[in-house]
Amino acid sequence: MLQPPLGIDKFELDTPILCIDLDVLESNIRRMAGFMRERGKAWRPHEKCHKTPAIAHRQLAAGAIGVTCAKVSEAEVMAAAGVRDILIANMVVGEPKLERVAALCREADLIVACDHFAQVEPLSAVCRRRGVTCRVIIEVNIGLDRVGIAPGRDTLELARAIDRLEGVELAGIMGYEGHLLRVEDLGEKRRRIVEAMNVLVHCRDALRESGLNCDIVSAGGTGSYQITADCEGITELQAGGGIFADPMYQLQCGVTGLDYALTVLTTVVSRPTLERAILDAGRKTLNPDHQMPLVKDQPDAVPVRFSAEHGELRLGPRAQDLKIGDKLELIVGYADFTTVLHDEFYGFRQNRLDVVWPILGRGKIQ
Ligand SMILES: Cc1ncc(COP(=O)(O)O)c(C=O)c1O
Repeated sequence: MLQPPLGIDKFELDTPILCIDLDVLESNIRRMAGFMRERGKAWRPHEKCHKTPAIAHRQLAAGAIGVTCAKVSEAEVMAAAGVRDILIANMVVGEPKLERVAALCREADLIVACDHFAQVEPLSAVCRRRGVTCRVIIEVNIGLDRVGIAPGRDTLELARAIDRLEGVELAGIMGYEGHLLRVEDLGEKRRRIVEAMNVLVHCRDALRESGLNCDIVSAGGTGSYQITADCEGITELQAGGGIFADPMYQLQCGVTGLDYALTVLTTVVSRPTLERAILDAGRKTLNPDHQMPLVKDQPDAVPVRFSAEHGELRLGPRAQDLKIGDKLELIVGYADFTTVLHDEFYGFRQNRLDVVWPILGRGKIQ
């Protein structure tokens, strides 16, 4: 596809495309970085919402210490683009991936998460063979009940076992309070997050009392960081999605102080009835799971249904003048599931095309 000329008006572009308001993105990045800085926390944003080195570099320039990735292949993309400090906040299992991790350790300062000796022992063997050392971080189950070793004795025993291995170096512990993002009552949310973070802090204390290293205590997502950042003992926060500040975070998790930055530009392709408009953006363009999109500047048009290639709006009286061929923007409900459907981000300032960024981490699922 030929790249459109820079400077072109957004609404002259063919659709659907994934659009970033660059001024808003930069302001969200600044605000998140400032928020962490003011509270004495390091920022290691999860990059799963953008998977794009150009955006990671903006986060680093604003003060992030590195990035968090979910997959080895995402870390490879970031390392190839010059990002040094990379946490793979996920379990890495199997010889082919471990070989890639060892190779990556020559290019980047990697940290790999684990919650069992059966992940760390083979990592240690590969790293020893390759003559590198990989940092590891123990993921503790702080209530999410996804991955994560039980806090207390199990965590301490795993830390001791890691400490005895060569080729790996214990860097600390992490936990993700993903089960608390949507607790409605803010007081209750704060109380439960503090409780979850105290689990991590107790683990840290136990490790240190046994003479084990626990420099890093990592936690936090966008849906919780405004509370988690107040918790003593947590050294760094992984909140990433706030750079787009999707409706999911603002409407479901009570996140404040950030603005919507990510939209899909779409065209009305059919007007079957006065109350219905059909868009050229279905689930293969915009994933509405977790949170329906919003129509930008059109509160009377409400997205109600998405099939593979069609999006349906229900139109109130003030939106019924929409015509076939009209373009409108859908504010993406939750970026993670939509970014991965696109090859590029189109970045705009004042609705003029400023940059096109390839989403280099797209398809990187191994
Ligand atoms: C390990 C981990 N850390 C942090 C996050 C938070 O990411 P975000 O801030 O993009 O919501 C997630 C989200 O799923 C996660 O799995």
